[in-house]
Amino acid sequence: MNKKSIRNICCIGAGYVGGPSMAVIALNCPELIVNVVDINLQKIEAWNSDDLNKLPVFEPGLDTVVEKCRDKNLFFSTEVQKNISEADIIFISVNTPTKTIGLGKGYASDLKWIESSARQIAKYARNHTVVVEKSTLPVRTAETIKDILESSEEISDFGMQKEPKSFSIISNPEFLAEGSAINDLQSPDRVLIGGEDEESIEKVCSIYKNWVDPSKIITTNLWSSELSKLVANAFLAQRISSVNSISSLCELTGANIKEVTLAIGKDKRIGDQFLKPGPGFGGSCFKKDILNLVYLCQYYGLHEVADYWEQIVKINSWQQERISSIVIQNLFGTLSNKKLAILGFSFKANTNDTRESPSISISKNLIKEGARLNFYDPKVNEDKILKEFQEYEYEQKLNVFETVLDAAKGTDAIIILTEWEEFHHLNWELIFQVMRKPAWVFDSRSYLNIIQLKNIGFKVWALGQS
Ligand code: NAD
Ligand code: UGA
Repeated sequence: MNKKSIRNICCIGAGYVGGPSMAVIALNCPELIVNVVDINLQKIEAWNSDDLNKLPVFEPGLDTVVEKCRDKNLFFSTEVQKNISEADIIFISVNTPTKTIGLGKGYASDLKWIESSARQIAKYARNHTVVVEKSTLPVRTAETIKDILESSEEISDFGMQKEPKSFSIISNPEFLAEGSAINDLQSPDRVLIGGEDEESIEKVCSIYKNWVDPSKIITTNLWSSELSKLVANAFLAQRISSVNSISSLCELTGANIKEVTLAIGKDKRIGDQFLKPGPGFGGSCFKKDILNLVYLCQYYGLHEVADYWEQIVKINSWQQERISSIVIQNLFGTLSNKKLAILGFSFKANTNDTRESPSISISKNLIKEGARLNFYDPKVNEDKILKEFQEYEYEQKLNVFETVLDAAKGTDAIIILTEWEEFHHLNWELIFQVMRKPAWVFDSRSYLNIIQLKNIGFKVWALGQS
């Protein structure tokens, strides 16, 4: 078998992970050809757009990397078959959402996109190919991928045996966070590479060694690598649910969540990262990855362990319900005929991603109470916002604005849901003037200057403060 050196990389899936992670590989490995393929033509066209503001993923610094590498050694296309057949290494970076139907519904990962990618690789790959799981997967998925790939070797064309193929499977989960993806990819805390075959592990390591200090590259067995990704996300989400649970206690006792997190974060064993209180974690991954972990624990009969981790998701939903109720109670128990401004629609700042954004669930709770909502987000467009509310008669009740001031006009309250930097620099005096009185600000991120707002005349509620 020809285990040739790497020249050509293919990545299946041009999403939030595939696009940025391959762009950074292309930037740091000019001798490699990196082809990113996707079945979504519109997305590929956007990646190829001359106007870099139209890239399908907004990430600080991504446009510069794409501009440097695109059409040199980084290519985006829908030519899945051709690029698979020419690749020495194939990264699978497709979506793995929670199943919505069938066995494991609501918990297990839906692996249909992984399966279809594996079938395409099985069909079109040639010679020896290293297949890298970059998507986040349930532990032992590599076994399924292997089964599909190995069955391909028996396929023959017109009764002729095809040229022999062989595959090695490597797990290389991605740890980037949206909003800081380029920085995370350029200077990762670690790169994790799991596998069984030393030569393939070394091949994948050799890509990263072009810019990552070798001491940061961890190699493990396949199953440790797959599981570590789920566990990393579960631990991160656990910190957010922990801090959010305490935010409610602060509001009732006179303690201040910012002071409490400052105090506990100084303990090196706890650390000061990932302790920001908020409207609960959003994003496409934390919830789905914990639910997947819960499913795995149930599958292996570890029911107490499953319950332990599931509680983190429950606290997250509870926090969003709690914030919705606080808004309603403070606005005299009813939102009928009231107009509220929702500031921020992405699930965190510096991204245009709205998947599982707390803004969606909180807005839905407010709409159910009869509220009219005015939205503003610096990076999420009107279509994307209104699409989330298709089941409502949004024509009259929901509006999207280009400026905060326009969104605030005639409203009873402003609800801050995403911590965009620009909300720090608003002309709050002017905003106060255009609102109906009493004018409220609900700061679910607890990051605005409350004293300044109160001095202007606002009534203010800030998470975790009394
Ligand atoms: P995404 O939905 O943004 O992108 C996935 C892409 O794969 C889509 O464009 C889809 O069209 C494409 N695709 C699906 N099946 C295909 C096929 N058979 N052939 C070609 N293209 C196909 O998803 P994402 O956010 O990039 O996440 C991908 C994986 O990475 C998930 O498993 C996720 O859990 C994991 N992950 C995501 C992040 C993140 O910040 N978004 C971070 C770390 C890990
Ligand atoms: C997260 C992880 O941080 C990444 O390591 C991982 O690769 C990724 O999930 C994934 O697997 O998809 P991401 O969801 O992009 O990244 O962004 P985070 O910064 O982790 O924020 C997630 C959510 O938690 C956001 O809604 C954010 O507002 C919230 N959060 C984060 C807080 O409420 N408080 C904090 O202190 C930190």
